[in-house]
Amino acid sequence: MYKLVTAAVAAAMTLAAGIVSAEPVKIKFSHVVAENTPKGQMALRFKELVESKLAGKYVVEVYPNSQLFGDGKVLEAMLLGDVQIAAPSLSKFNKYTKKLQVFDLPFLFKDMTAVEKFQSGPKGQELLASMESKGLLGLGYLHNGLKQLSANSELRNPTDANGLKFRIQASDVLAAQFEAIGALPLKKPFSEVFLLLQTKGIDGQENTWSNIFSKKFFEVQKHITASNHGLIDYLVVTSAEFWNSVPDADRAVLNAAMKDAIAHGNMIAAEKVSSDRKRIEDSGISTILELSDAERAKWVDAMKPVWAKFADQIGQDLIDAAVASNN
Ligand code: SIN
Repeated sequence: MYKLVTAAVAAAMTLAAGIVSAEPVKIKFSHVVAENTPKGQMALRFKELVESKLAGKYVVEVYPNSQLFGDGKVLEAMLLGDVQIAAPSLSKFNKYTKKLQVFDLPFLFKDMTAVEKFQSGPKGQELLASMESKGLLGLGYLHNGLKQLSANSELRNPTDANGLKFRIQASDVLAAQFEAIGALPLKKPFSEVFLLLQTKGIDGQENTWSNIFSKKFFEVQKHITASNHGLIDYLVVTSAEFWNSVPDADRAVLNAAMKDAIAHGNMIAAEKVSSDRKRIEDSGISTILELSDAERAKWVDAMKPVWAKFADQIGQDLIDAAVASNN
């Protein structure tokens, strides 16, 4: 089912055979966020590097804002050869592996240094290849940042979320996390969140400062709790069939360009944690609530039992390695 030879693969094979191809190989990079985000900027940097280093041989078309494929479809499209690169949030691989659910466990990482340590360590690196048998290859992790909670009523204590509807990504861990505080989780694509908030189809959502700012969620939410309770990072992913069809020398250039683009995106992610938060603060539209240590401890107590429910699916070894990265 995954073995359709696409135009991109065929073109790459032509290059591999040393036959001069008239047309450059087209690499479509599809994502769901705005261009002024870590992922948006990373995709553009990748395009710039590839098109300068492999000029005439490859072109990279970047489709932001779910223009080409939204959350539900992009990985299927990749396996059919309709898109070559994407960087879905780590919460969106549930259909292909349960192991990446480790990144959704609430209050797992104390900060982004711990996230980086886990991702670059042996367990994190192992996960990059965990979907190869399904035709998907991880090229690297990209940061966005820690998640904040937003709603139209103040969320100071976990009980404040009781009975409220929250949009979540398509993740069972995230569903369990909201159920643990008596809230109602609704799995919805990223492209629908603003409208759902605006029309009161949902009461709240969880996301990073960068996504809350760039998609204007703060304009339709009165309160944001600086909870840092979870993570939105990305797996930059490609079709194994496409990637393996690229000639070795070109693949080395693509890999180097990706490494550079990810470093660029990570630098922007680190900067946006404070700059996009400040832009939201300065707007005066929504209030930002800082939790006291005692208040935060209540959220941890309420949400952390979720870990035990998913330990078997994820693997205790992965959870232990993630926890150890906090030290
Ligand atoms: C993204 O950052 O790619 C989207 C995250 C979300 O669906 O909330």
